[in-house]
Amino acid sequence: MSAMCGIFGYVGSREDAGKIVVDGLKHLEYRGYDSWGISYKCEDELIKIEKETGKISSVNSNDFCQKSSIAIAHTRWATHGGVSKCNAHPHLSEDGSISVVHNGIIENYQDLRNELKNKGYNFASETDSEVIPHLIQEELKSCSDFSTAVRNACKRFEGRFAVLAMDSNSQTLVAARTGSPLIVGVEKADNGKIDGFFIASDIPAFMEYSKTVQYLDDGEMVVTDGNKIVFTDLETGEEHPKREIEITWNAEKANKGEYDHFMLKEIMEQKDSVARAVNQDEEQIKTIANAIRNAKGTFLIGCGTAHKSCMAGEYFFSIIAQHHVNVSSAGEFKPYHHFLQPESLVIVVSQSGETADVLEAMNIAKEKGSKVLAIVNVEGSTIAREADYTLLINAGPERAVASTKALTGQMAVLILIAYAMIDKLQDGKKQLLDATALINDMLNPRYIDFLRGVAGQIHTHEDLYIIGKSWNFPMALESAIKIQEVSYIHAEGFAGSELKHGPIALVEEGTPCIALIGNDELKGDIIGNTIELKARGAKIIGIAPENNEVFDTWIKVPDAAAAQAIINIIPVQVLSYFLAVQRGKDPDMPRNLAKSVTVK
Ligand code: AGP
Repeated sequence: MSAMCGIFGYVGSREDAGKIVVDGLKHLEYRGYDSWGISYKCEDELIKIEKETGKISSVNSNDFCQKSSIAIAHTRWATHGGVSKCNAHPHLSEDGSISVVHNGIIENYQDLRNELKNKGYNFASETDSEVIPHLIQEELKSCSDFSTAVRNACKRFEGRFAVLAMDSNSQTLVAARTGSPLIVGVEKADNGKIDGFFIASDIPAFMEYSKTVQYLDDGEMVVTDGNKIVFTDLETGEEHPKREIEITWNAEKANKGEYDHFMLKEIMEQKDSVARAVNQDEEQIKTIANAIRNAKGTFLIGCGTAHKSCMAGEYFFSIIAQHHVNVSSAGEFKPYHHFLQPESLVIVVSQSGETADVLEAMNIAKEKGSKVLAIVNVEGSTIAREADYTLLINAGPERAVASTKALTGQMAVLILIAYAMIDKLQDGKKQLLDATALINDMLNPRYIDFLRGVAGQIHTHEDLYIIGKSWNFPMALESAIKIQEVSYIHAEGFAGSELKHGPIALVEEGTPCIALIGNDELKGDIIGNTIELKARGAKIIGIAPENNEVFDTWIKVPDAAAAQAIINIIPVQVLSYFLAVQRGKDPDMPRNLAKSVTVK
């Protein structure tokens, strides 16, 4: 099984299809990097397949320059079926004419595998994905058309998947999806004539060739021979007309620029990305504020970092708008479904817009007739297209696995909505735009260098604790995620008040502890909690607008009032980046993780 992966295919007039898909796949490496594989058809030959464990970034695309006009490729994040060459995609049919790459999980693969084995098919891998080419070959026995055979095979799968299949006989690519993203790129000559088609998990794969895209929706299939393309309903085969969309952002923005890693680039982009999140259609914000005011129960739902945005949102709505909202991590939402009514409002927050747990929570809400608002970063993502309303945070492509600018964009939007609920949208907007100016001042080379030095003082520790109160408590939890996922330090976040009820037993002489502090009425309390840590030997790093004698190291942050959570998390993001680098880890592609968790 390959849960989160990068899929890419090309068919058209170009004759370096192998090279195209290798180069394009490198832009999808952030989606999974346990193994990679390419299949391409050279003239008058069967399909060539190359696959290997390890990262696609180490592969020389010039090794794939044989003349070919059709190819598919895959970069894998393994869930079931270990990291091995034979489990890498693509997978080939027994007759060698069909190769397939797959993202997602085929939940009934055991039954299909047994059925095919009983029909004499042999399996080379442990993956669920390998049932696909064999089933297509089997289906071809009862229908002559490749796309019909793919359709019939896909209709037998249970679960969420994106499949891309290549047929060497008909020189055709067929793709289908139920839940994992697939986007078509259309390449045209200057005279408008179609030159070829790309099919990928994400746009950067083909960005250098085309910015004209068509989105494959859930339950759709697409067939192309490089000259034309047809979108159909996967179940019925009915043709779906599909409009072309022009992408506005450029490839450069989607690449690293002058930074060593996407993570630092995206942290620094918060000088601009928070402002873009704030600049929303004001009427839409007011409409959403009204919808929350009038809803019979509002639920904020997300996973991981996005869930911490939701937790901060609970404080924003309580403190700014005196309004109660419910929060749940998407994977834990099911026990609450009996509270949902048609008058309820479910707000799902997701950077990628593809997180399976969030999609499942959305489906629960829609089954109950509740309205769904999506706050997402990726335009055209599944969540964005299936929600009733969508707010884009406009952070631009976030490629590092560690979510940074998406978090601050999400929180900015939630703060804006909270102010709109008390009819003070302009006040909220001003506070947030003031905060973006403070971010711009804060993220200067001297400050970054200071944070690099702070990381240098603590990067050898294996345990680290972070405390906060109010909206800084979710930021303490978020700080832990950042530090955990890129540096592999065992970091834990706590509400400051909770320490003395157990966790403080963990503190030893010299244990680094970060305190997230604002100039609010809780400052005395959190300082008190920090003194408790200090008394037990902790090495205190205070992130606060003002210094305090309890701090061993003071990381100064501007006083940003209601935007303090946004401000305070940024030095932690930088700190976690340097901790990773100083511990010899790759902050962009941490072990065991992938950017978009498209499995439950
Ligand atoms: C964040 O740094 C993590 N990579 C992860 O927790 C992430 O926030 C989570 O998987 C949710 O992703 P989404 O925002 O794309 O839904």
